[in-house]
Amino acid sequence: MNKKTADFSQPPQSYWIASTPQPQHSVLNEDIETDIAIIGGGIVGLTTAYLLKQEGFTVSVVEADCILQGTTGNTTAKVTSQHTLVYNRIFQKFGKDKAQHYADANQTAIKTVSDLVNSLKIDCDFSWQSAYCFTHRDDYVPEIMNEVNTASLLGIQAYFVPEIPLPLGIKGAVRFDGQAQIHPRKYLLALAEKIPGNGSYIFEQTRVTRVDEGKPHRVITKNGKTITAKIVIIATHYPCYEAHGMYFSRLYPERSYALGVRIKGKYPGGMYITAEDPARSLRSHMTKDEQLVIVSGEHHKTGQGEDTSNHYRKLKDFAEQLFTVIDIPYRWSTQDYSTADGVPYIGQLTSDTQEIYVATGFGKWGMSTSTAAALIFRDMILNGYSPWQDIYRPSRFTPIASAKSFVKENLNVAKHLISGKLSPVPDKNEIPCGEGKIIEYEGQRTGAYREQNGKLHLIDTTCTHMGCELQWNSAEKSWDCPCHGSRFTYSGEIVDSPALDNIEHKILE
Ligand code: FES
Repeated sequence: MNKKTADFSQPPQSYWIASTPQPQHSVLNEDIETDIAIIGGGIVGLTTAYLLKQEGFTVSVVEADCILQGTTGNTTAKVTSQHTLVYNRIFQKFGKDKAQHYADANQTAIKTVSDLVNSLKIDCDFSWQSAYCFTHRDDYVPEIMNEVNTASLLGIQAYFVPEIPLPLGIKGAVRFDGQAQIHPRKYLLALAEKIPGNGSYIFEQTRVTRVDEGKPHRVITKNGKTITAKIVIIATHYPCYEAHGMYFSRLYPERSYALGVRIKGKYPGGMYITAEDPARSLRSHMTKDEQLVIVSGEHHKTGQGEDTSNHYRKLKDFAEQLFTVIDIPYRWSTQDYSTADGVPYIGQLTSDTQEIYVATGFGKWGMSTSTAAALIFRDMILNGYSPWQDIYRPSRFTPIASAKSFVKENLNVAKHLISGKLSPVPDKNEIPCGEGKIIEYEGQRTGAYREQNGKLHLIDTTCTHMGCELQWNSAEKSWDCPCHGSRFTYSGEIVDSPALDNIEHKILE
């Protein structure tokens, strides 16, 4: 590793988090009642809370950790309706009307972000950009052409271009005009400021453990306090309450990686992504005094695949092939969920739950989709209907679009319920400082991580969600679950749900 250009020995932190303050909100320590309880303090939760408060509702946002520290704090923050090559696929599988609704929802989401930035005068480095999805392969060119034609038919400003402003030797690209990029935390911290007061709240460090359905509903937190609300919105990335929606069988988690790179020379503008794997994505951002290029990609199923540190190295290699890299001051990773048919779930939690809404499965396109979700929730709550609700309806099941993927993902989960328990394990003395491995300790399979000072941290590698075997993530120093994406620190604390309980932890000196 070239220490001059990348110090990957330090813990990852996104530029968005590093460059903004972290406001403190209190823990929920009494029972309260609001019109609407919103679980999750990311972009869906905060945008929805802001819009609904504007409509006169009292809202309570409840976050298990700190607001805007999860996926929203670790995004690439492209506010775009270009979700790689999605429109032709949706058109073919769901028909023209639903493809139109998908396009309208995302195009309206971009305009909504722009309108909020303007009307609230939010200083969040918003800029209009063109978005390019490009290919290096001849066999993808017809797909690019189909995407241009379908997106144009749906009213998007989409064009075929044989070249892009970056020297990537492409075969062709689809360009969407009128797209945008922002600093996500500057934008959302400004919205968050407007939520508390006049009977509305944001609570942090308050984990929700269940929802007791009723009229009204009761949202129960880990410390036993309750929020009573007529309407509940679950915006926790993976739903913290599923009823009988079986989300565990229809969502799969993926991790992806980003570098914040300083380069010699000027970035030409624009947002870019490959149509094919390996995924490579680019945008730039003007910090206070310089240009940062954000290079991202390298997605893989959580808890599966090669040593996770390799993903940062591969992005670094890509950046160095494309630019003269000065240094790489930031790196970060994130987790996203995708659905069986590739379209997010936004709407009523199940076909027979009343006034409990969910938004999940954004497939890495959370900036526009989450704003679309907030608009859908607002319209469903105010008017009983959103024009875009059918394409996103969580209780849909589309055999052609979903079945193959559904079977594949659930076989994958079944494999990970048992496979980790069968592989051979090293002795605890074989673990160098800074590394984690699965070992046998007192006759049990045990996850072990050795700190630089030699202390050995031991945890049970059985995920507290549904019992899959955790895998070591060397890049983030975490234990990750390959089934539904729960993640734990090396000392057993939850980093990502759906798990609700920490893992017992022991230190050997
Ligand atoms: Fe579901 Fe681990 S078993 S997240």
